[in-house]
Amino acid sequence: MGTSDTVGKNAEVFNYGVVRQFAIMTVVWGIVGMAVGVLIAAQLIWPELNFNTPWLSYGRLRPLHTNAVIFAFGGSALFATSYYVVQRTCQARLFCDKLAAFTFWGWQIVIVAAAITLPMGFTTTKEYAELEWPIDILITLVWVAYAIVFFGTIVKRRVRHIYVANWFFGSYILTIAVLHIFNNIELPVSMWKSYSAYAGVQDAMVQWWYGHNAVGFFLTTSFLGMMYYFIPKQAERPIYSYRLSIVHFWALAFTYMWAGPHHLLYTSLPDWTQSLGMTFSLILLAPSWGGMINGIMTLSGAWHKLRTDPILKFMVTALSFYGMSTFEGSMMSIRSVNALSHYTDWTVGHVHSGALGWVAMITFGSLYYLIPRLYGRVEMARPRLIELHFWVATLGVVLYIASMWIAGVMQGLMWRAVGADGMLTYSFVEGVKATYPFYIIRLSGGVLFLAGILIMAWNVYLTVKGQVKVNPAVPLRNPDARDPSLVGPASVTA
Ligand code: HEM
Ligand code: HEM
Repeated sequence: MGTSDTVGKNAEVFNYGVVRQFAIMTVVWGIVGMAVGVLIAAQLIWPELNFNTPWLSYGRLRPLHTNAVIFAFGGSALFATSYYVVQRTCQARLFCDKLAAFTFWGWQIVIVAAAITLPMGFTTTKEYAELEWPIDILITLVWVAYAIVFFGTIVKRRVRHIYVANWFFGSYILTIAVLHIFNNIELPVSMWKSYSAYAGVQDAMVQWWYGHNAVGFFLTTSFLGMMYYFIPKQAERPIYSYRLSIVHFWALAFTYMWAGPHHLLYTSLPDWTQSLGMTFSLILLAPSWGGMINGIMTLSGAWHKLRTDPILKFMVTALSFYGMSTFEGSMMSIRSVNALSHYTDWTVGHVHSGALGWVAMITFGSLYYLIPRLYGRVEMARPRLIELHFWVATLGVVLYIASMWIAGVMQGLMWRAVGADGMLTYSFVEGVKATYPFYIIRLSGGVLFLAGILIMAWNVYLTVKGQVKVNPAVPLRNPDARDPSLVGPASVTA
């Protein structure tokens, strides 16, 4: 029994302590990761902001940003929500409190180690897998513990049915384990230097099999798990189609695995592999939109709530960005489109329409639902600040991605422009100069987005510190009987 579990019966039945820890750290790491994002966005306009200090240089801070937002912010959000959802929908306390505590502290140590070693310049150079081998080993240990806690809870569930959100969370946990292990097979030559076991084009293929599936499972499938629990809860509607959720789950899991080569179009990767990647990326649109449609249609009959409920606004906007970025991704996988978009800021725009619009927005919505419940409050301390956060963040994303789209297409067109004499029309530097105004717009979008999460942090602080405590008073037996997300063939039997 967790010692910090003090709010109501729920907290005695469920392990909310570890969920709270991860939920709070999601906000903290979100601020850190996005602040570094703002700094590097500013460095692209004013390079002097590296203060001639190696550990403040762009090349070192960029991986710090990506690791902080994906693994620290996104990762903590996923630990928090998956631990909450699996307990609620299985009506069982997390399997092994000690192991759950180990995942929290272990994951925090991984993050701190990343925050120290990346600015120092220790890196494997593999994108999204930059951390050196000792940290990789710790990640593996934490992840195995995570899998034991999560699947252990499923095994001891008191409900026969396994709610679909758990399928999504489960597949992300399993897949990330496989990806992490195979992409990081490396030969250590010293404490902080290792070389990949793969070479040449095989190395690139393994890296982007990892990279794309990290997007597919760490930034997508997992967050769909979040979506499948928190949207029905907040909308107080059953999910639109349980059948669709199962069909698009399997289709997504199967298709994502093959799409990695779209990151390596026009490289020395065999041509057929590139075509295979492109084809699967186009097919991927169907299961992706299956998920989006299922989420949005869940609001059927509850559309009026959108007018007044800022939490739902976050969730529905997140789904819209999910639909938009997956459509865009499928288009960018087409060779001729990729010939224009690759290496340009269009890719960065695509990334952030998924990352800010989908990942961060669904996280914000879910946390606003979760935090009052974890701390036994009726609602967030300042509901109107949720609305403010929503508009500030939405404006921020739009400025970010629209500026990057325009900049990207412009760069692509400038780089390929040739005169009648066959010479390039523009030098590279001219392209860089033309991009400056768009970098300024992107920076202002980033500042707004960061301001949004700071508003959230203030609201969370007030909620956690709040005096008015409400006993959640949900019956011990079958708390999810009233849970609208638990529809489906076997529903709740306990
Ligand atoms: C305040 C918000 C943010 C700002 C200002 C920001 C800014 C940036 C900048 C300037 C870059 C480098 C682009 C380049 O090299 O040209 C970048 C890269 C990246 N960011 Fe962010 N970011 C923010 C939030 C996020 C979040 C929340 C996520 C993920 C959940 C994210 C994921 C990424 C990824 C994956 C890349 C690498 C993109 C690539 O290699 O194409 N960012 N970000
Ligand atoms: C159907 C779904 C999707 C497809 C087919 C897809 C496809 C693509 C393509 C073709 C690229 C450009 C590769 C290049 O030219 O280098 C790309 C880059 C990227 N996408 Fe997506 N995308 C999808 C969804 C998403 C979502 C939802 C997110 C984020 C949550 C995301 C995150 C990224 C990232 C981080 C990169 C940059 C990788 C890098 O070069 O560092 N994608 N995607």
